[in-house]
Amino acid sequence: MAKRTILDVEVRGKRVLVRVDFNVPIEHVDGDARITDDTRIRATLPTVQNLVKRGARVVLMSHLGRPKGKPDPKLSLRPVADRLGYLLQKRVRFSDDCIGAGAENSAKSLQDGEVLLLENLRFHPEEEKNDPAFSRQLAQLGEIYVNDAFGTAHRAHSSTEGVAHFLAERAIGLLMEKELHFLGEELAHPARPFVVILGGAKVSDKIRVIDRLLAKADVLIIGGAMAYTFYLAQGKAVGKSLVEPDRVEMARLALNKAASRGIELLLPVDSYIVEHIDFERRQTSPGRYTQPAEEIPDGWRAVDIGPATLAAMKRPLAAARTIFWNGPMGVFEIRGCDKGTFAVAEMVAENRDAVSIVGGGDSVKALHRSGLADRITFISTGGGASLEFLEGKPLPGISVIPDKAEEEAKAAIAHATGEGPTESFLPT
Ligand code: 3PG
Repeated sequence: MAKRTILDVEVRGKRVLVRVDFNVPIEHVDGDARITDDTRIRATLPTVQNLVKRGARVVLMSHLGRPKGKPDPKLSLRPVADRLGYLLQKRVRFSDDCIGAGAENSAKSLQDGEVLLLENLRFHPEEEKNDPAFSRQLAQLGEIYVNDAFGTAHRAHSSTEGVAHFLAERAIGLLMEKELHFLGEELAHPARPFVVILGGAKVSDKIRVIDRLLAKADVLIIGGAMAYTFYLAQGKAVGKSLVEPDRVEMARLALNKAASRGIELLLPVDSYIVEHIDFERRQTSPGRYTQPAEEIPDGWRAVDIGPATLAAMKRPLAAARTIFWNGPMGVFEIRGCDKGTFAVAEMVAENRDAVSIVGGGDSVKALHRSGLADRITFISTGGGASLEFLEGKPLPGISVIPDKAEEEAKAAIAHATGEGPTESFLPT
């Protein structure tokens, strides 16, 4: 069901309180804060620019990191306000707190088209507790609530859920709308063939997603460490590869489901293996590729997929009309174990006839590093949120926004009964 968006709301002259996800990586060097990846800030620009253009008074709020309910200068959003101002080419005001008299004065003194960013919501423990009094204080800063923070929509926090109960006008932003379109509609009704590539360390993180996507995909490619739990399910040796023995049964069920539905399920046929890996120093002992169909020898661990596996992926990826990719093919942070992930990024980017959708922090990082991001149809800003969404779980930050049809029905009833819209409503 389509959600109400900012385009359905009259915003001119109104204070619009927008939850964004500005949880971006920041490095501190010699007292200087440097944002190392501003993708999430850029992704929010269409919403902010649209509101500014239409004369809204924009109040932005976000969390940054996990400060455990206490102020932490290293997790201040002030550098984000500067970067946003640079990207918007306009002044972005900043409030040192997200609630209280200072925040209220700053919000209420905004003029049409001006933008204010509030300090990190998680400096208050009440935010993550979804505390009603805190939610009410946030609600005082706006007249309309907008959620554009897809990356945090799986959290039922004050700013993503509680606050919405205190503001009658609610809508999603343009980024959220795009996320729902690509991860929702495009994957629910994919152009075929539909190829899914899943990677990463743990089967447990993705088993529900695998289950759901097995009902849709034509080809499922599994790489990364989780592939070796599938090896165990097939009775193959895994050496000392990272596996989850308690998930072997689930992996077996997934293999059976794929077979019974006639879905092609590709596991690595060869791997790059090493004897030792040092995550801290980001290095490994010298490695080698296994022969196709060779199992992983004792004392060795698989850290990437091999060339024969990449060759096997080429045909389905070139023929695909929809591609969804989540998770790296190996320990791609370490040089030498990254070839598989970058080769997959290239193959996905090469297919210009497919709708390509990429989600998950590491696969997105790999795309950015290889300079191929602009060749992808859509890159999700959600990590945990996109997985939960794909599992089919209702996300609190989305559920709290009314469907378009629901709002139209309410307006029709109000019109018929002569009642105007209510100012606010309390949690049920
Ligand atoms: C993310 O980076 O996945 C979101 O910003 C959510 O952050 P959290 O896991 O700290 O709630």
